[in-house]
Amino acid sequence: MKMPMQQCLVDDFEVIENVHLGEGWFRLDVEAPSIASTARAGQFVQVRIGSTDDPLIRRPFSIFDVGPEPGPEATMLSLLVQRVGPGTRAMMQLSAGDRIHLMGPLGHPMPRPSLGEDGVLLLIGGGIGVAPLYFYCRELAAEGSPLKHQVLLGARSSALLIGIDAFHKIGVETHAATDDGSCGFHGNVIELLEEKLESLTDPGQIAGIGCGPHGMNLALRDIAIERDLDFSISLENYMPCGFGACFGCVIEGPADQPLRYRRVCVEGPCFPVRELPEKF
Ligand SMILES: Cc1cc2nc3c(=O)[nH]c(=O)nc-3n(C[C@H](O)[C@H](O)[C@H](O)COP(=O)(O)OP(=O)(O)OC[C@H]3O[C@@H](n4cnc5c(N)ncnc54)[C@H](O)[C@@H]3O)c2cc1C
Ligand code: FES
Repeated sequence: MKMPMQQCLVDDFEVIENVHLGEGWFRLDVEAPSIASTARAGQFVQVRIGSTDDPLIRRPFSIFDVGPEPGPEATMLSLLVQRVGPGTRAMMQLSAGDRIHLMGPLGHPMPRPSLGEDGVLLLIGGGIGVAPLYFYCRELAAEGSPLKHQVLLGARSSALLIGIDAFHKIGVETHAATDDGSCGFHGNVIELLEEKLESLTDPGQIAGIGCGPHGMNLALRDIAIERDLDFSISLENYMPCGFGACFGCVIEGPADQPLRYRRVCVEGPCFPVRELPEKF
């Protein structure tokens, strides 16, 4: 069930640290107590950099972490960012003391599947999709949740498995897949998932949340539908506004539900696979 929208804040905040992680990736830590204290895993912020209109459109980023611990005492918010164009290039140049304009938290939190004692939740990430999955694991740890979970991360090569150390540090069982075999399973993360599913025979005891590139998300949806698995996928559609006003991010809604179109930014960004249209 979707939760009611919470309050969304729009303000300038101070950058605390910008840690460059190599391969064009960086972690941006921002002192933003009003957003960090209410943020939940799966939600995102819209970022505007500088005081000019270039780039004009805000850019959406998943919340990667809040600190010191998830919950009402959190004051710091972290984003894990991959440099791809003008907006992320400008963000990469920010340093301690600079200001950044954030709107958030936006969207709904990722779901918490109800699984029995023997159940396992698989968190499947590719590329920048690792960001919300890490926050999800941090939340489970902070709550002392008994939900058993494993992370499957995919990348082209070991150098691009950014974020994997963070999962190791918090003690989450994490499995890597690399296209070139330089770390972990030799193949993509979907092939790794298929192998894992062979050892987990009861579909009722498996749930999954995926977040990754479009091709990975499509393959994940097909596997979950074919095997009748309770999986959800977090989408990263193009989002001009991020708060429901422009309809620039819509996907088709399920035929048996009243909404013809669903805004990924408001009704999502995470959807059960059964509610995803053929093309998304
Ligand atoms: C819900 C959500 C969560 C995201 N989380 C992260 C994250 O945690 N870390 C991260 O590095 N990236 C994340 N992204 C992608 C990020 O928003 C884009 O990489 C960023 O907007 C690129 O901006 P740019 O100016 O650097 O590049 P541009 O050259 O403007 O764009 C490069 C590509 O980025 C995408 N993009 C551009 N503008 C938008 C937009 N307004 N909305 C969505 N996609 C856009 C498009 O695919 C485009 O082709 C997320 C996207 C969404 C929708
Ligand atoms: S981005 Fe404007 S409605 Fe979703």
